[in-house]
Amino acid sequence: MGSINASVDLRRDGEIAIVTSDNPPVNALKHEVRAGLAEVLRQIRDEAAIKALVVACAGRTFFAGADITEFGKPPQAPGLGEVIVAIEAMPKPVVAALHGTALGGGFELALACHFRVAVAAARVGLPEVKLGLLPGAGGTQRLPRLIGPEKALKMIVTGDPIEAREALTDGIIDQIVEGDPIAGAVGFARRVVAENRPLRRVRDRDDRLVAEGFADAAETLTRRLRGREAPAACVEAVRNAIVLPFDEGLKREGELFRELMAGDQSKAQRHIFFAEREAARVPGIPEGTKPRPIATGAVIGAGTMGGGIAMCFANAGIPVTIVETGRDLLQRGLDRVAANYRTTVSRGGLAADEMERRMALIRGGTELDAVAGADFVIEAVFEEMDLKKRVFADLDGLAKAGAVLATNTSTLDVDEIARATKRPQDVLGTHFFSPANVMRLLEIVRGAATAPDALATAIALGRRLAKVPVTVGVCYGFVGNRMLARRSVEAERLLLEGALPQEVDAAVTGFGFPMGPFAMADMAGLDVGWRIRKGRGERNEIEDALCEAGHFGQKTGKGYFCYEARSRTPLPDPEVERTILDASARLGVARRTITPEEIVERMVYPMVNEGARILEEGIATRPGDIDVIWVYGYGWPVWRGGPMYYADRLGLAHIRDRLTLYAERSGDETLRPATRISRLAAEGRGFAS
Ligand code: CAA
Ligand code: NAI
Repeated sequence: MGSINASVDLRRDGEIAIVTSDNPPVNALKHEVRAGLAEVLRQIRDEAAIKALVVACAGRTFFAGADITEFGKPPQAPGLGEVIVAIEAMPKPVVAALHGTALGGGFELALACHFRVAVAAARVGLPEVKLGLLPGAGGTQRLPRLIGPEKALKMIVTGDPIEAREALTDGIIDQIVEGDPIAGAVGFARRVVAENRPLRRVRDRDDRLVAEGFADAAETLTRRLRGREAPAACVEAVRNAIVLPFDEGLKREGELFRELMAGDQSKAQRHIFFAEREAARVPGIPEGTKPRPIATGAVIGAGTMGGGIAMCFANAGIPVTIVETGRDLLQRGLDRVAANYRTTVSRGGLAADEMERRMALIRGGTELDAVAGADFVIEAVFEEMDLKKRVFADLDGLAKAGAVLATNTSTLDVDEIARATKRPQDVLGTHFFSPANVMRLLEIVRGAATAPDALATAIALGRRLAKVPVTVGVCYGFVGNRMLARRSVEAERLLLEGALPQEVDAAVTGFGFPMGPFAMADMAGLDVGWRIRKGRGERNEIEDALCEAGHFGQKTGKGYFCYEARSRTPLPDPEVERTILDASARLGVARRTITPEEIVERMVYPMVNEGARILEEGIATRPGDIDVIWVYGYGWPVWRGGPMYYADRLGLAHIRDRLTLYAERSGDETLRPATRISRLAAEGRGFAS
């Protein structure tokens, strides 16, 4: 319990006052914290015996920012800006003691202090852009004054935090302290007072405010952020730091912040922030369920996915064994992992010795008994049911008791795989996305018999591997790929009716996806699906014709698009156009012009429809889980909040009417609105209600 209020404590150590906030879990700057800080500043200001003030936080981190749960509610004084101004105006030195992550408004508060010290493990950053905002408490004006506009803009537009050492080099912090940050800050404050330095306020500095290079940096940083309002506002605000007096720049920052806050994009991004965290709460895991401890992992199969999954373990510092069927295949897999790491090292993303450390965590084996010591085993062999069942039957005899046995299958029935063992309670799916070491999404597939603590273990491991785990139920394609399949059917139909691949892809990237469906298909390879269809006696008019002509995608230099040597840029291909026109003629479809608006509707609404069925069947727990899957697994534009959120914004009555129209036009009954859509639309409600 604090001496000022429930969240804020003030104590005195000789001539140094120490204010500590304690608002678990991340010390968000909620109203009570702001009020407590304002009160402390009032008391300390005129207390003659106090010569300096240390601002610190209890628990795992310094202030991680404004309290996001207060956004969109009526503001309560004092605002963060007022507290920050009062700190900066203090006639005695204020020292921020940083640990954990000083983020957003928390870092902005630290920037208004006269000095900043940090423990070496601390990180500082301005992640507001990730919520569709800009730093609204002076960050866009103070940070450029401290480190120059170019570097400041980089931190503000990427939103990525930096380590204490880098912050020290840049001049953001004044000293790195060992051990307890408060003790370090108090020691620092004593020296400052003794040395009697004049107080330097960041707002008064202008020596680093150079305009040169800023426009180029802004262009480079925002080039790939088409359609997003926040990065453009960040650029404007930081430019203001160069061209406007401090107070005017601050005023404009506030206006931009309020505009973004009221806008649709930030609302959507805040939805995703909370949906991601909500997804971690899985029904059916009783309160207090403990995840099983994971000290070591094993991966079976060193192919595309197995290698990437092993890298995830190594990146998290967890020793992992990869098992392959033979020496050569194993070596090839390990070589690919090493090559991946080398690329990252050559691009400056990883230190060479760190690569060695990670490679040393990965061991290989050619016999399945090499998994015997592992706490978590992930199978990533070929997508064949009989093979997977054999592997799991063998695992049953070899894996240690209590180990979680996971399959990375993308389509197969996890329950059937579990039945190949005598411990189905330990079996579940961990569906990684390719490339597994890069993509954040992890669909965790809960089987009928999966034990709650096995599920909790998979979720905890997912977070340790820096993934965004979302728990789903068993069905063909689970959530993401099942919805994607609907989009693929409709994409092909669009080609037959009159669109060209470049038109479909342009509409989809114009909507905000990084890639269109056809460029994506070319990247994945068209031949995989072709072989599967041939085996099942199915036909896909256009894609099969392309494959028969050797168009396998990027790997053969031509697919839906053609590619110049060593280039991944998709170029329109006249040969493909002829193939498409032939297919339309063969099937007797009269081609017509299709607008980008129609393309977007037909790419998105059938997916939403499938999402609704997925909710009806209980395969996904909540609409927000589906949104998170699409943002993290498929590049859905985060500022549109995910497919289910997007549908709610448009109104389900509209979605229902358009789906009905498309179902009638095409004769495809699967396009009829799902029961849940019709019911909610009739009640004037959305998925989220
Ligand atoms: N406000 C309110 N709640 C917050 C919060 C915030 N700023 N940051 C985190 N939380 C909550 C989370 O919702 C979560 O709640 P539940 O346990 O109920 O789900 C809890 O704190 C723990 O968060 P995480 O699970 O994310 O914990 P972590 O240890 O993995 O990560 C973190 C910690 C790095 C601080 C991460 O939570 C994070 O990035 N938070 C957001 C930081 C941020 O965006 N700050 C800027 C806010 S905007 C701003 O400050 C505007 C301004 O300029 C004035
Ligand atoms: P892959 O063909 O690249 O690799 C499979 C590897 O498993 C091969 O190296 C093979 O030699 C090895 N293997 C086969 N039998 C084995 C056994 N008995 N013991 C040990 N190793 C064995 O396949 P990929 O793409 O890595 O897929 C693996 C699994 O991941 C499949 O179930 C697939 O459906 C799934 N998946 C694939 C994705 C992708 O984009 N490639 C995405 C998500 C899931």
